[in-house]
Amino acid sequence: MLDEQKKLYIPEHVGIIMDGNGRWAKKRGLPRPVGHTYGAKTFREIARYISKQGVKVLTLYAFSTENWKRPLEEVNAIMKIFRQYLIDSLTDFRKDDIKICFIGDRSAFAPDIIRLIDETEENAKDREGMVLNLAMNYGGRDELVRAARLLSEEVRSGAIRPEDITEQMISDRLYTAGQPDPDLIIRTGGEHRLSNFLLYQAAYSEFYSTDTLWPDFKPADFDQAIAVFNQRNRRFGGV
Ligand code: IPE
Ligand code: IPE
Ligand code: MG
Repeated sequence: MLDEQKKLYIPEHVGIIMDGNGRWAKKRGLPRPVGHTYGAKTFREIARYISKQGVKVLTLYAFSTENWKRPLEEVNAIMKIFRQYLIDSLTDFRKDDIKICFIGDRSAFAPDIIRLIDETEENAKDREGMVLNLAMNYGGRDELVRAARLLSEEVRSGAIRPEDITEQMISDRLYTAGQPDPDLIIRTGGEHRLSNFLLYQAAYSEFYSTDTLWPDFKPADFDQAIAVFNQRNRRFGGV
C-alpha cells in the first residue's frame, strides 16, 4: 500500500523478532523478567501503532520452541505475563479492530493459557482490521514438520499423490495459511539471525536489524525500518 502523504510503500505483512528484553533489564541491574514486563508494554503500543499504518498482517515472535530451555524461573515469569496480557490487554485490541491469531503449538501451554488463547481468538474472529499473529511456542521447523505430517496423511488416505505436492500446498498447511508472506522482518536487539522464525515464509523477506532493545522500540523506530525498506530493491530472483 502506498502512503500518499509520505510517498512510502507500507508492507502488507511485517514480522518482528522482539529481542533484547533480558539485556534491557540487565543494563539496569534488574532481573531479566522485568525486561519481559516492559517488553510486553512495547508490544501493546507498537501493535496498535502499526495497525494504524495500513499494515495488513503483523506477526510478532513472542516465544520460540527453543525458549523452553531457559531457567524455569524465567519461563514461569513469561507465562505469568502471557496470562495477564491474555486477560487484560488483548481485549484492548477490540477498539482497533485488530484480529488476533495465535501461531505455534499451543498444546504445550498450561490448560488455563490454552483456554485464554482459544477465547481470545474466538472473540476476535469477526474483526476486520489488521491481523495480529502472535507466535507463541512457534518454531519454523516445527511448523514444517506439522505440514509434512498433514500432507503425509493425505497421501496415506489416497487423497493426493506425492508428485502432486506443490509449494502452494505446503504454504496452505502452515499456520499462516492464506496470508501473504512477510515483506519485511524486523529484529530488535542487534542480532542478525532468524532464530527459527517463519523459515518457509521468509524466502524473500527483507531483513532489518536494529540495535535498539525491544523495550526501547518506539513508533519512530518502526518508521525508520519502513524508510529503509523503501530503499530496498526487491528482485525475487529476477533482474
Ligand atoms: C526476547 O528477549 C523475548 C523472548 C525470547 C521471550 P530476550 O529474553 O531474548 O532478551 P535477550 O536477548 O536475552 O536480551
Ligand atoms: C528469538 O529470540 C525468539 C523471540 C524473540 C521470541 P532469542 O533470544 O530466543 O534468540 P537467540 O537465542 O538469540 O537466537
Ligand atoms: Mg534474545
